[in-house]
Amino acid sequence: MFRLSSFPTIRRASGPAVVLAAALAVSLGLTACGQGAEGSGTGAAEAPKPPALTETEKAALLTSLPAPYDKADLENGRRAFARCRSCHTITPGGPNMTGPNLYGVFGSEAGARDKYSYSHALRTADFTWDAETLDHWLQNPRTFLPGNKMSFAGLPDATDRRDVIAFLKVETGFKPTGE
Ligand code: HEC
Repeated sequence: MFRLSSFPTIRRASGPAVVLAAALAVSLGLTACGQGAEGSGTGAAEAPKPPALTETEKAALLTSLPAPYDKADLENGRRAFARCRSCHTITPGGPNMTGPNLYGVFGSEAGARDKYSYSHALRTADFTWDAETLDHWLQNPRTFLPGNKMSFAGLPDATDRRDVIAFLKVETGFKPTGE
């Protein structure tokens, strides 16, 4: 590209330097490639990101959920989640925004993400997120846990709550206990 097209003129000026530069570029390229493939070069490896579920796996997970979530409409859940997206990411390792990243929220202690500055109310709350607690939280965050700082009026429609909870289970790495 740019470099290649500038080779001929440089070569005329100083041949060996160009050869050296080319060799260097190749070896750098190979090194970078090797690290990428093995991922063990630095020792500070991040936790591997779990693969996203395929559509078939999502459908299977959905039908394995306890009622009423097994009958949820994931598309409606996705639409309802549009109201949360301005404040929450749901991908593994996604950034905290106004609200914390929600990947892995089910089964995790409320207010327990490192690196997110919770309200005192949520940080000191003593419960674990499951479908039921999330349903109450989403119905009316303010009355469910007074003093929390999620400024969201709530999802008054029970079907929207069912669907957004099922959508979150499917999208945020929830694993059924298998019993
Ligand atoms: C206007 C921004 C905003 C919107 C919209 C919003 N949230 Fe939040 N959410 C927050 C904030 C801020 C917190 C942290 C509250 C605290 O620390 O008191 C939070 C906390 C949470 C938590 C607790 C997470 C934990 O680590 O304990 C859950 C679960 C949650 N939100 C789900 C949702 C869902 C689902 C929706 C959409 C239906 C939604 N939120 C909409 C801002 C928002």
